[in-house]
Amino acid sequence: MRQFHSAISGALVAVALTQLIAANAAEVDAARLHAAPSNNADWLSHGRTYDEQRFSPLARINQTNVGELKLAWFYDFDTTRGQEATPLVIDGAMYVTSAWSKVFALDARTGRELWRFDPKVAGPKAIDACCDVVNRGVAAWGNRVFVGALDGRLIALDRATGAQAWSVQTTDPTKRYTITGAPRVIGGKVIIGNGGGEMGVRGYVSAYDANDGKLLWRFYTVPGNPKDGFDSAVLEKAAKTWHGEWWKYGGGGTVWDSMAYDPQLDLLYIGVGNGSPWNHRIRSNGAGDNLFLSSIVALKPATGEYVWHFQTTPAESWDFTATQHIILADLTIDGRARQVLMQAPKNGFFFVIDRATGEFIHAKNYVNVTWTTGLDPKTGRPGVVPEARYVREPAMVAPGPLGAHNWYPMTFSPQTQLAYIPALETSNYYQHDDAFQFLERTWNTGVVVSRDPANAKSVADAAKSKGGAMLLAWDPVAQREVWRVNYQRAGNGGLLSTAGSLVFQGSVDGMFNAYAADTGVRLWSQDVQNAILGGPVTFELDDEQYVVALAGIGGVALAGSSVGSQSRSEFGRVVAFKLGGKAALPALIATTSRRPPDVRRANAEGDIEVGHRNYTRVCMACHGENASSNTAIPDLRYSNAIVEREAFKAIVIDGVRADKGMVGFGSALSPAEVEEIRAYLVSLAIAL
Ligand code: HEC
Repeated sequence: MRQFHSAISGALVAVALTQLIAANAAEVDAARLHAAPSNNADWLSHGRTYDEQRFSPLARINQTNVGELKLAWFYDFDTTRGQEATPLVIDGAMYVTSAWSKVFALDARTGRELWRFDPKVAGPKAIDACCDVVNRGVAAWGNRVFVGALDGRLIALDRATGAQAWSVQTTDPTKRYTITGAPRVIGGKVIIGNGGGEMGVRGYVSAYDANDGKLLWRFYTVPGNPKDGFDSAVLEKAAKTWHGEWWKYGGGGTVWDSMAYDPQLDLLYIGVGNGSPWNHRIRSNGAGDNLFLSSIVALKPATGEYVWHFQTTPAESWDFTATQHIILADLTIDGRARQVLMQAPKNGFFFVIDRATGEFIHAKNYVNVTWTTGLDPKTGRPGVVPEARYVREPAMVAPGPLGAHNWYPMTFSPQTQLAYIPALETSNYYQHDDAFQFLERTWNTGVVVSRDPANAKSVADAAKSKGGAMLLAWDPVAQREVWRVNYQRAGNGGLLSTAGSLVFQGSVDGMFNAYAADTGVRLWSQDVQNAILGGPVTFELDDEQYVVALAGIGGVALAGSSVGSQSRSEFGRVVAFKLGGKAALPALIATTSRRPPDVRRANAEGDIEVGHRNYTRVCMACHGENASSNTAIPDLRYSNAIVEREAFKAIVIDGVRADKGMVGFGSALSPAEVEEIRAYLVSLAIAL
């Protein structure tokens, strides 16, 4: 039995349950969203409040009693892929998404399923997702919830029944756009971005009418082909920071995750992604800042009109997105009350910016950073170490494309005045791809991945950033680390802080932890049998406080970590805790240790180096760097499918498993190239 309470089913019960939502449900409107900071019963929007602090005033669970936190209920999804969603909780019902953009409504007190909605994303679409077929959650307005599906649809669902109210295609289906991020709603406008920077797309964010799905405005983050005319005066100006024929590669700048809103200033803030391709030399002839890549942009939510921007990494060339979580807060800095915006983007600096004007206040690196000579104290503009640009020579640079911080949400506690960052120590080998060709069905980054990064030339001491994960408590006024928790394994999890002076965070080894917000001492920990990556939520119903998280290991987020040997639950899962909870997780079925395939008769032919190169270009994004995978996607070194040439060909060229997200690559690779990839994989299996 996969579903908790799965005995409860049948049309009659379903009708009764959905009536239960309808009876309790009140509309989500502007007044309710503006009052969210003091609303303890609900979790109404992605970051809990428009300022996205992910701080709850609830203190029923606190440092004294957190040790008694026990499982209240759990609910298993029907997918093994990555889970990254933040659930919403409205009027006693929880609305949560799983991999493949499915939406589930659960009774928030018991985990009982109320309804489910499957948008039926086609399996082959998985190839356009850089980092697994994940989804980060829904938004709510009126009596509806809204989900962005992987294939670019924005879908409105009736909150009581899960029935589809409308659906619009927000992207060009012939291009390799995906949606993984959660929509936000401001004044009845559903704001949605998209992803695809590695695949060759042009980023934008759009607003749709919550009533009927009508497109109201669209803001492109990078200019298109000047020949076609500019979408706005501001993009005409931005185009002066671009060179070459960037539009052929899309340019990038996707808005795939973070947004925040200030109702007083009436400004919407969006985090803009990396360049497409990553390599600035290929994308823009090595010249120009490339606005608005890697920037935070403030827009008027009524019209999508540009107000200001701050670029965290000009001339981006390392996949340094600024799509990381944006938090708004009011702080006193140098004796002055400031309305600030905080972000810890991939480039390794913690930025504090004036959110009314976009003016740089200050920044400090929160991990080892080797790409820059430092930031201009007035403007925040970074100087770049010339070798880090890998124009002539390859270079090891810290941080790498996973970032010093990825999509895992941060939190800010007004109680401790600290920001908490799920940080990563990473570095990466960047080598200019002389043979770069823009290809369908592959990653298009313009960067070669090394088989032997240990011997690559390191920019400063980049190599010392070996892939650790930390929880950092960061003072945004003094710009200094206050405490840290070091994790053994790479990969990290999102955060929640509470007035109980607690910080909750899951880890990739399947533990859910609570730390003292002031000291970082671990006060509670519970095995949930799978990695927790997303941000936990909390709410109070019938005088009981619940803390909820999603467990389920994802795609590329964990490349290079060592989780694979551990047994874990097969399916993604929602876990809910309360004081004195009485539920228990099922026993794990013991997993047999992995054995390498018998490759004695594999007879794979071809150049292993070429095989590695094509593997990296076409397969790595899903199957892991150097074919080491710890996720739900198979580790090919251990796959029996690499033993037989014909079986391998059937999967890799003909696409016999396309419905599971493993499409055929016949149009991207010749049979000889596929055989070379097999030879490369066999060489790795032999070495195990
Ligand atoms: C978009 C993600 C993605 C990409 C890119 C991708 N794969 Fe896969 N692959 C998958 C998934 C998901 C499965 C598991 C399918 C299933 O459940 O049957 C899989 C399964 C396989 C299997 C079967 C393994 C087994 O033991 O069952 C082989 C072999 C394979 N892939 C080879 C490749 C090769 C070679 C490449 C590059 C040419 C590649 N894949 C690129 C997602 C991907």
